[in-house]
Amino acid sequence: MDKKVFVTHQLPGDRIHDLGQLCDMNVWMGPGLLPGGALAEELSECHGLLCLLTDQVDRPLLDSLPKLEFVSSMSAGVDHIDVAALTERGIPLGHTPGVLVDATANATFALMLSAARRVVEADRYIRQGNWRNDNAWSPEFFTGKDVSGATLGIIGLGAIGQAVATRAASFGMRVLACNRTEHNVPGVESVSLEELLLRSDFVSIHVPLNEETRNLMNADRIATMKPGAVLVNTARGGIVDETALAQALSSGDLYAAGIDVFAREPVEQDNPLLALPNVVVAPHIGSATMLTRARMADLAADNAIAALAGQPMPCCVNPEVYS
Ligand code: DGY
Repeated sequence: MDKKVFVTHQLPGDRIHDLGQLCDMNVWMGPGLLPGGALAEELSECHGLLCLLTDQVDRPLLDSLPKLEFVSSMSAGVDHIDVAALTERGIPLGHTPGVLVDATANATFALMLSAARRVVEADRYIRQGNWRNDNAWSPEFFTGKDVSGATLGIIGLGAIGQAVATRAASFGMRVLACNRTEHNVPGVESVSLEELLLRSDFVSIHVPLNEETRNLMNADRIATMKPGAVLVNTARGGIVDETALAQALSSGDLYAAGIDVFAREPVEQDNPLLALPNVVVAPHIGSATMLTRARMADLAADNAIAALAGQPMPCCVNPEVYS
């Protein structure tokens, strides 16, 4: 009998069709995202799950799924999944790093430049009919913050952090970085987090969300950032204290922020960051290019295909389950 695999969304790419040939595949067809409570019911008879970062896979859910043999998430980050609970059960977890590196590094730069050069504010200014002869170009009109010659501090020097460093060098920026383990990247000065926050004109976050990094950028750390600095976050919302960040931005201690990820997604309309003109926001689109999303879906399907064949997943978060 074919193994049953549940896929929580229709996916781009080609490999999902190959997966469909190899199992009894059931795909959630919407509308919208699979409602939180529906996962347990949909998965009750399943051997495999292919999910998104919007699906919560926690211990109580796993307790109710004795047949589950593998999980594959179409995401690099796996903070929506209880990895320890999967590992205890010997269940491999696949994810999709690597293929989203360039797209996410580019999105980081898009947010950084938009925040520094007030692009979104300027766009709104024109659309609201404010650009008139009596209110036009002048020497200080829409002046922003210089990027070239500034210092960028990168928190987390994994593949995405390094791709951001490469881009920063070509923009003529000085690059500092802090990382849990020592990394020797040419042109990047390795410093402590404390020193990075004191010295950086721009700070960009590239660490995963876990118990070590949750609330890493808390009110105390935000208060030590260089006056007039810009914070960019394309990693995960829970890493930054949004209330403290909003305060630092509205008081003028910080110049601006570019935020792609929020502690709660979709973000609530009363989130204080949304009320600030010096915050550029995006709805978690760091990896959102057509090719990148197709590659992520293909890798997620490849992880599932390997698991169905009883082979190690090509990108496994907890390879210890194989030993
Ligand atoms: C991921 O895959 O973890 C990213 O956040 C998606 O953009």
